[in-house]
Parts: sequence; C-alpha cells; structure tokens
Amino acid sequence: MHSFRTLLVAFAAGLLLSCSSQDVTEKQIDQLLAKMTLAEKIGQMNQVSAGGDVANYAEALRKGQIGSILNEVDPVKINEFQRIAVTESRLGIPLLVARDVIHGFHTVYPIPLGLAATFDPALVEEGARVAALEATAQGIRWTFSPMLDIARDPRWGRMAEGSGEDPYLDACMAEAMIYGYQGRTADSTSMAACIKHFVGYGAAEGGRDYNSTLIPEHLLRNVYLPPFEAGVQAGAMTLMTSFNDNDGVPSTGNTYILKDILRNEWGFDGLVVTDWNSMGEMINHGFGADRKDVAEKAVNAGVDMDMMTMGFISHLEELVKSGAVKEKTIDNAVRNILRVKIKLGLFENPYIDVEASKPVQYAPEHLASAQKTAEEAAILLKNNGVLPLKGSRRILVTGPLADAPHDQLGTWAFDGEKAHTVTPLKALQERFPGQVEFVPGLRYSRDYRDRFDDVVAAARRADVVLAFLGEEAILSGEAHSLADLNLKGSQSELLSALKATGKPVVAVVMAGRPLTIERDLPNADALLYSFHPGTMGGPALVNLLWGDVNPSGKTPVTFLRTVGQAPMYYNHNMTGRPYSGELLLDAIQPEAGQTSLGNTSYYLDYGAYPLFPFGYGLSYTSFAYSAIGLDKDTYKVDDTITVNFILTNTGAYDGTEVAQVYVRDLVGSIARPVKELKAFERVSLKAGESRTLSVKIPVKELAFYGLDGKKKVEPGDFQLWVAGDSASGTPVPFAIH
Ligand code: BGC
Repeated sequence: MHSFRTLLVAFAAGLLLSCSSQDVTEKQIDQLLAKMTLAEKIGQMNQVSAGGDVANYAEALRKGQIGSILNEVDPVKINEFQRIAVTESRLGIPLLVARDVIHGFHTVYPIPLGLAATFDPALVEEGARVAALEATAQGIRWTFSPMLDIARDPRWGRMAEGSGEDPYLDACMAEAMIYGYQGRTADSTSMAACIKHFVGYGAAEGGRDYNSTLIPEHLLRNVYLPPFEAGVQAGAMTLMTSFNDNDGVPSTGNTYILKDILRNEWGFDGLVVTDWNSMGEMINHGFGADRKDVAEKAVNAGVDMDMMTMGFISHLEELVKSGAVKEKTIDNAVRNILRVKIKLGLFENPYIDVEASKPVQYAPEHLASAQKTAEEAAILLKNNGVLPLKGSRRILVTGPLADAPHDQLGTWAFDGEKAHTVTPLKALQERFPGQVEFVPGLRYSRDYRDRFDDVVAAARRADVVLAFLGEEAILSGEAHSLADLNLKGSQSELLSALKATGKPVVAVVMAGRPLTIERDLPNADALLYSFHPGTMGGPALVNLLWGDVNPSGKTPVTFLRTVGQAPMYYNHNMTGRPYSGELLLDAIQPEAGQTSLGNTSYYLDYGAYPLFPFGYGLSYTSFAYSAIGLDKDTYKVDDTITVNFILTNTGAYDGTEVAQVYVRDLVGSIARPVKELKAFERVSLKAGESRTLSVKIPVKELAFYGLDGKKKVEPGDFQLWVAGDSASGTPVPFAIH
C-alpha cells in the first residue's frame, strides 16, 4: 500500500504535455499573438455571463471582445456562440465555455464535503469524470471546481463545497477531481479544472462569507497553500482568485500569492481568472479608487481573465497606452488563456453534436456511480444495534428531508433536475410496496409546529421510524453562513416526540455542514449523516439502512458539540497548556479565588473535545488494529517510512475501514500541530478476516515551512499513529536524523 498522493504525482507526469507538443503549442500561441491587435488581446481576457439570447453578444463576439462565457448550458446556443466567434471574428479564436459543475452536472453526486467523507479518491475521480462527460457533451469545457479552501469553521456556508479541514485529504481530493475533470489524457471530454479560491477564503472571520482573513505566513504555507500546490502539480489548467483580503490585501490584487508563489515558485502556466466581480470588489475593499485603478492592480498582480467586472475590457487599452501596464503583461495573460484553449483542442473542434449529448445525461452508469458515492459518503455516527434494519413490516417515514428532491441535491447543483432525484421516500416505496407510511411532520427544515400528534400516532402503528432531518440546500453554500448550527425549526422537537413513543428511531441527517446535533443524539437509536447526497441519495440510504452496504464514511471535519467551540479542528498547534483533564463549570465553588493553576486550553462549559473528531465513523462491524510497527527506528531525510500493521474485521459483517496514519513532529523551529494526517487507505475485509498492510510515507512528506521560511524536514523525534480516527490509537516513536 502506498500513500495515495505518491501514486498520483507519478501519474501527473503522464498528464503533462510532452516537450515537443509543448513547443508546438507555444509556437501556435506566438503565431496568433503576432496577428492580434491590443484590443483583440484584451478581448481574450474578458469573461461574461452570457446566458440567454446569443444575439445580445453577437457584436462583441465579432469584434473579438469576449474570450470566455459562463452560465450558458444550452448546447444549441453554445454552438451558436462558437460559430460566431470562430467564423465571424477576425481571428476565429474559439470561446472557453465555463460553468460551475461542482459535484456533478445533471447527475448530481454528494456535495464535495460528502465526497471527502468517502476517503476514496479513485471514486471521486470517477465522479468528476462523469461530470466532465455530461458537461462536455453539452459544450462546457471549463468548470470552476475543485474548491480547495480549508474550512475550519462550520458556520461558513461554503464548507459544503470543499473537502473540510485537512490539507492532506484536501490535496488528495484535489488531485482526484482534477484528473477526473481533465481526463488522464486530453480529448474532447476534457473539462479544464479551476482550483479555487486562491487563497484563504475559508478562513473568513467568524465564518461570515466574504469576510477578511488573517492568515499569517506559516499557517498560509503549511495549511492553506498545500492543496493548491498539489493541484498545480496535478496539472490543473486554471485557478481562481478569492474574494477575501488577507491581512489587508485582496487576493485579486495580491502579487505575492499570484506571482511570487504561484508563478515563480510553483511554475504555474495556466490561466488565472478572478472570482465573480472580485476585481470590482477591490473598490469596496478600499484597495482601489475606481474600476480603472483595480484593473491595473489586478493585471499587474498576475490576473489573466476578468470575470464580470468589465474592468479589463473597459480600461486596459488606456492603461497600456499610458504605460501603467506593459503590453508584455497583456501578452503573458493571453498566452495563458490561449494555452488552455489549445490544450482542450478547441481550435480543432469547437462544436458539439447536440443529439449525441442527450443520452449521456443521467446515463445508467452515471446514476450507479452517484449512488455508490452516496453510499460511501454517509457516516454512521451512532448505532445502538438497531441498524442494519431487518424485516420491519411497517415503516414510518417522516421529516422534512424524506421527500425533498430539490434539497437533497445540495448547494451548487444548477443543472441537476429535481424530477430525476430519487428521494428516500421514493426508494422505500419502491422497495417495500405497501409497507411505508409517510407523514412528513414538517414541510421544510425551518418549519415550526407545536404538536406532532399525527406523526406520533403513525409512529405507534409502525415497527420502525425513519426520520430524515437536516437543512435545506439553500442554508449552505455561498453567502449562506449561519451563527446557530442546531437543527432548524421544530426538527429536534419532532425527533424527541418520536423517541417518546418507544419505537426504534433512526435519524438520517442531510446537510451542507456538520450541524451541532448533540442534543438530538439521545433521541435517535442510530444516526446516519449523509450530507446532501445528490440524485441517488434515496436508494443509497436505503441500502445502508438495510445493510446491503455497510457504512464506511468518515468525518472530513470535526463535528462540534456547540457552535461556540468553532473553530475547532484536530490538527491544531501544540499549546503551552495541553489539555489534561477538566474542571467544569459546576465544580467551581461560589466565590472561588482566582487561579489558573492546573487549567489548560478548554471551555469551562463544554470541555476540550468535539462531538466527533476528524476521521470518525462507525460501521456495522468492528475493526482492530494490531502489530503496528515501523521498518526502522531512525530515518534519513531521503528515506521512506514503511508503516506495518494488521487490520482485523472483528465483527459479524463484511465491511470497509479507512485506516489513517497520523504523525506528530515533537520539536520544531515553530510550534507544530498535535498530529497531521499523512496517509490513509480504504480496506475492505470479510467478517473475521485479517490483513497485514503496509503504508509508505516518504520522509520528505514531513517537511514544513519553519522559522527560516524554508520548506524542509527538521530532524528530531516524531510519533506516529495508525487508527480509525484522529483521536484514537497509541503513538509509535521514531526519529529522523
Ligand atoms: C463564486 C465562485 C463561482 C463564481 C461563478 C462566485 O460567486 O464565489 O465560486 O465559481 O461565482 O459562478
């Protein structure tokens, strides 16, 4: 067993263009650039949202004033856009057609946070490939995904769109999605990936979307940047700047991140696009006086394409003429844009076959893949033995998410039609005809009710109660931050009324983030957390509940007990007073004298621990780790660590465990995290089966940016854990000299 990322980096080499085809591409770019007027070059740098009537854009297309459009998905219109650009503009440069294809196109997969919960990069790559097949069949050749923003605060609604709190897991998912979208070899189904939002957007103050961030250099280098660097290495063709200002500098005007790091350190030769009007918003930040000023700042900082500010198209020509922007800067930007168009083969064939695109959408194998992903994404957080269900004759289905075909798709599912969604109710009625009674109790997740007499009466008639709770799709995603993460409306009251009937109650939570469900747990005999599971969520959940599939998802973020704990994440730095026991609020005597002795870093009212740690998830079976050992005690910087262990399925069901390897660097030139995920592997074992496994971790994976600002491994003593979550296991010592 290898660490997944080592394998992928090896594959990445195969994806890059060979030297000779690179030369051909650069020559083609030179030839085109030589023919282009300044105005035509600037036109390439302009992206507009062009949904609707093609005629509205015809004149600008003919004049070469648009390089890319977003938000048009009708293949007939896309062909028409391309026809005008290719046959009626002077140079015939095709358009880049973009769309937010975030977790599937028509066939919707679980939200990205759910994808991360699978800890299954190969499956995530398959899903991104499916998304690319469906989207490119309709003419979309550029998606604004994957979102790589580390999110440590679940109040931030966009946590739904990323892989959670861990840089290593995030990097694995980034690579998988990039390979899936772009394809392992470029062809007409390659869809350019866009790693976003560069950078730090997920650290918005207080979880309030669009807010400022304060990420100091070490944290930026060691936590927020690594997934992006992995994305660049995996060959992501494009990158999007973020809305936030970090320490006062908005990303869209930040030369340090866009030039020094992205271009000079990482050698990125792709296209940098702004976020929607993020150039214009630099005026709101007070970072520029007007549109001309911010256009100058953005282009000089390293932005190639303007999404929707119209700052480049309106002002770059005069800025070049006045000498404020060099024409060479414009040439470089256009090079980066043309390179993507050439790599995608748009010059050879900008059109699509409209009829052929239809059967690709919702193809049976796409639906099967989305279902398998929803099965792997669900996390079993509690089970007192009620699951898997067997032989229930009368099933009560209740709760606002039981039959919510729109909400089940989650945020950023523009093209998934709810008519194709299979809800849990639909799946249950199909599997158990005549046995299902449906009493929703609440119409939607924020709905309030005082009494639940009808639901309670139905529960009394049933053998088992399935309560589908959570949040509507609109409560997470962009611009949808929350300050209270409890179940909304009267959902907790509904669950407690159901519990009072004494019937077995299984809760399923569909949400865009880890909600604070501590108060609800006692009212459920079992709880399955599925995030928003997508088109095929219904059958996936039914398979899980009845044990056709054994749950294997693991938490990609820390689940909090209460929102006041945010931000709380497993890989925090070692503090001066590491947690070592609790003196909780009630133990404090009235008029107690002031003392801090013996106290550590925790909350008097909620202690030090979350509800569920990162990497956590139950199964219908149980797993035991034994004989954990390393091939050596001491390593050199160029060595590879081999971690050996035996994993045993000690329960009565076949199942899959995500074995996780964490490392702690005991002493560094700066304070180090208490532990960091360095490898993981999904392992399927039959009931009673044991397997000897070995994970390889190159010592250089333990490098970090220390006090001198250089990335390196700092020799010394380390500890390593192999476990089923971030809070378990016994450390094994080793050293690097
Ligand atoms: C979002 C981006 C998205 C873009 C285009 C913005 O509001 O922040 O993530 O890709 O819109 O739709």
